[in-house]
Amino acid sequence: MTSNKTLLVVGSGPGIGRAVTTLFASKRYNNIALIARRAESLATEKAAVEQGVGSQVRIETYAVDVTDSAALLKAVDDADAALGKPECVFFNAARVVPSAFFEHDVKEIEYDFKITVSALYVLAQRYIPHLVSLAKADSSAKPALIVTSSALPLEPIPELFALSLVKAAQRTLVQSLNLAFAPQGVHIGVINVAGPVSPDDPVRNPANIAARTWEWAEAGKDFEVVI
Ligand SMILES: NC(=O)c1ccc[n+]([C@@H]2O[C@H](COP(=O)([O-])OP(=O)(O)OC[C@H]3O[C@@H](n4cnc5c(N)ncnc54)[C@H](OP(=O)(O)O)[C@@H]3O)[C@@H](O)[C@H]2O)c1
Repeated sequence: MTSNKTLLVVGSGPGIGRAVTTLFASKRYNNIALIARRAESLATEKAAVEQGVGSQVRIETYAVDVTDSAALLKAVDDADAALGKPECVFFNAARVVPSAFFEHDVKEIEYDFKITVSALYVLAQRYIPHLVSLAKADSSAKPALIVTSSALPLEPIPELFALSLVKAAQRTLVQSLNLAFAPQGVHIGVINVAGPVSPDDPVRNPANIAARTWEWAEAGKDFEVVI
């Protein structure tokens, strides 16, 4: 493992979040910052990653709702001070709730937009300049912004129209960032998890999603990996 590499995980949870965090920690990152809303769930995630990779990994947790931009920026200030600025930002926060026409309140759409797009934009504003500097300063660095996505931007589901539309907006944001900053050495792209995740699914299980994500991130070239 390379020393002093920090992974920032935004949207830490027991599924894709835990599997990607554990694998990335075992492969490269010895400092991990975990962000999610619930402190008790973060404690579980921290313990699970430590169990997976051992105590040589330092993990700090920050309980914030990413829709609160000020709280999010305070959390990443604290994470940077404790662990150093990240080499890899993994954005995995989302809310998967049904949104039936026309019972779904517009405020719910706006909340999903804040999780999926606004918080990602705030983090990009903060970290892309740092990741570009890292790419210039250190040829062995692998500066990256990785975002968990799905097939919904390209194949919306009416019963999930709210998630479909914010994921479409998010994909456009990530594509735009990729066009602007991949030429400057930052790997920016999406994991397109193109169906429901289940531990029993032969392909879309968290361990396989993490393994495919690691291979794709290691190659550091393509915008998208479809799983
Ligand atoms: N699960 C699926 O079937 C599936 C399929 C295709 C794509 N995806 C995508 O995969 C990603 C998530 O993976 P996952 O479903 O396996 O979940 P996960 O990694 O188990 O957990 C994601 C975590 O995000 C956190 N989160 C949600 N809203 C947040 C907020 N406002 N602020 C801070 N943290 C927040 C939640 O923790 P707290 O509740 O503690 O905040 C949740 O545990 C999402 O991008 C989702 O769209 C999932």
